[in-house]
Amino acid sequence: MKQKGSITSAQEKMRGRIRSDIVQQIRKIVEATNGQAGAPIRVLQKVQQLVGYLPPEVLEAISREMRIPLSELYGITSFYSFFSMVPKGKYVVQVCMGTSCYVKGGQKILDALYKDFGLQPGGITPDGKFSLETVRCIGCCGLSPVLAIKEDVHRKVKPSQLKKILSAYR
Ligand code: FES
Repeated sequence: MKQKGSITSAQEKMRGRIRSDIVQQIRKIVEATNGQAGAPIRVLQKVQQLVGYLPPEVLEAISREMRIPLSELYGITSFYSFFSMVPKGKYVVQVCMGTSCYVKGGQKILDALYKDFGLQPGGITPDGKFSLETVRCIGCCGLSPVLAIKEDVHRKVKPSQLKKILSAYR
């Protein structure tokens, strides 16, 4: 099984053009879900597991194999937050930018992540370890600003703590 969220060899080779063995696997996935309710979502989920994310060339291949409009796949991919068109890191850093976290320094956390790790929202570190997302309120407003990595919610985060926090995941 591919490691979810990391840059895999499949992702490496995906850049530019899609590999023929990936096309074959997409074809098998499409055949296996043929006629099932919600087939496009199932196919997108399985292909994202395979590749790690859903770049345009992969969506085009799915569109061809399923014979459905590319616009429909883009619509589904952008509607559901669990689909991603960009590679995700092994660890996804989610910085809350809900009102409370924003007021209490969420932007400073984003600034420090950019300064210290080169991470911008939607971006990924060169080693593929971390990617960054912003989220809206994860329900810990009294302890803001917060950031989440996997199931861990880090509360009252100060920019100076970020190196220590992230180093625990290396
Ligand atoms: S606004 Fe950040 S946890 Fe609610």
